[in-house]
Amino acid sequence: MSKQTRYVTTPIYYVNDRPHIGHVYTTTLCDVYSRAMRSLGHDVFFLTGVDEHGQKVEQSALEKGMEPQALADLNSEEFRSIMEMFDLTNDAFIRTTDKEHTMQVRAFVSTLLERGDIYLGTFEGWYDEGQEEYHTETSARDLEYTSPISGKPLVKATEKNYYFKLSAYQERLEKFFETHPDFVQPPSRKNEVLGRLREGLQDVPISRTNFSWGIPMPSDSEHVIYVWIDALFNYITALGLGDKTNDWHEKRHQYWPATFHIIGKEILWFHAVIWPAVLMALELPLPRCVYAHSFWISEGRKMSKSLGNFIDLETIESYLEEYGMDAWRYYLTTQGPLGATDADFTAEKFKETYNAHLVNTVGNSTSRVTAMINKYYDGIVPSELNDGERVVLLGFDWPEKCKHAVQNWEEAMEAFSIAKAVECGMALIREVDLFINDTAPFKLAKDESKQMELGAILYQCLETLRIATMLLSPVIPNKTREFQEAIQAETCSGNLQEQAQWGGIKPGAKVTKVALFPRV
Ligand code: MSP
Repeated sequence: MSKQTRYVTTPIYYVNDRPHIGHVYTTTLCDVYSRAMRSLGHDVFFLTGVDEHGQKVEQSALEKGMEPQALADLNSEEFRSIMEMFDLTNDAFIRTTDKEHTMQVRAFVSTLLERGDIYLGTFEGWYDEGQEEYHTETSARDLEYTSPISGKPLVKATEKNYYFKLSAYQERLEKFFETHPDFVQPPSRKNEVLGRLREGLQDVPISRTNFSWGIPMPSDSEHVIYVWIDALFNYITALGLGDKTNDWHEKRHQYWPATFHIIGKEILWFHAVIWPAVLMALELPLPRCVYAHSFWISEGRKMSKSLGNFIDLETIESYLEEYGMDAWRYYLTTQGPLGATDADFTAEKFKETYNAHLVNTVGNSTSRVTAMINKYYDGIVPSELNDGERVVLLGFDWPEKCKHAVQNWEEAMEAFSIAKAVECGMALIREVDLFINDTAPFKLAKDESKQMELGAILYQCLETLRIATMLLSPVIPNKTREFQEAIQAETCSGNLQEQAQWGGIKPGAKVTKVALFPRV
């Protein structure tokens, strides 16, 4: 297979907040995708990081009697540390205070000024202070002059600002959406964007003068660049696209355009409309897909600190202690809000999912099969052949089933349908269980004349589990590695299509018993 590049990004997170399930969720999705793509041999660049400028950070710092930079340093470290804590394999961690970033943002903004895509004008509108987002009169009225995120009133604002000529991109954007129907996922989100696009685009202010914690506008240091414009640029500054002499450029420029920008639904407009227009203005290629997932709510209600249902790092840690990291990752990626509806995080559902999927399916099957091989064959893998021919029982064509599962898994992963991809592995495991029930190897073991069948059943079960766990390894990397080591199988190393071919386990290999997921 030819090696291709894959570039996947998370939003960069505001450092005035502490990390919580939302940040961990998006980053975990990108991690699963990255691991899957690496296992297929692709050259992956997985970017995450932090958004450090803006009024909110300046205010928080002020309240704490700190310099904004000191607060940003402190909180950025906390975000960086969650990457290790959750086994997240990001290739880089960008900070918007990195000088490589700020220099390039200024260079991009200068280019846009020179081309007339940014100009000085007067702004009148409604400002959402919490989100650092502007609303026009019409959209503010629709929102009843209240922030949809924080519930606080929008503030009337008039000031001299630099504007980005978004209105000039109306037609080009419409055309782009027409010719790239998969640009925004899932489809219902795309329809929202198209609806708003049809109302007509207005130019957007991209600078602020009422605070100073930001990147100064080139040649007008009274203004700082609006935090959202600063932030969006991270996706290309991290690749050094704005400075050919930069080390980042040399190593990373080949990853653009992004394969997936993964974001939450609340920041879709910036990513689906403003960002593409900025890229068009800079004559850069557009990302392949902006995927906007929905939100985690908790125990049936919007997460909130005052309701006590907020899933912060401390709450997450209690789940990790009780169930382990892989169980956490599994729950997030298979039960999460990747589609168009919000997902409810409940302690009950977590436990149910853990028991049904991990204990009773993955755990049970792997332990049953390795135990039988130990009991009947002293842990030595038997053969599935009779006179060189595969013994087929009850019409189960395992090599064919596995081949299909691998193909479907790859397709689903490529489309970022993570839960669907996981299901390809899980379905195989459930079939192994059925197969064991139907062929009853524990009965055959008592019959001298059925040894050939017994060997074939156990070989086929083990080999299918080996392939199935490969497909699960991006989500539950630690437990699948434990299993692969126990059956002396190769761990995934960038050639999954070959490694997942039937016959990887050789008769005669040594297998030890496993117990991957203890019952909670
Ligand atoms: N800094 C901006 C993004 C700039 S990207 C160029 C920002 N930061 S944020 O810290 O508020 O992070 C928002 C992201 O966190 C969401 O888009 C989503 O990825 C994640 N989540 C935050 N709360 C969430 C839930 N309750 N559920 C799922 N994910 C959510 O916006």
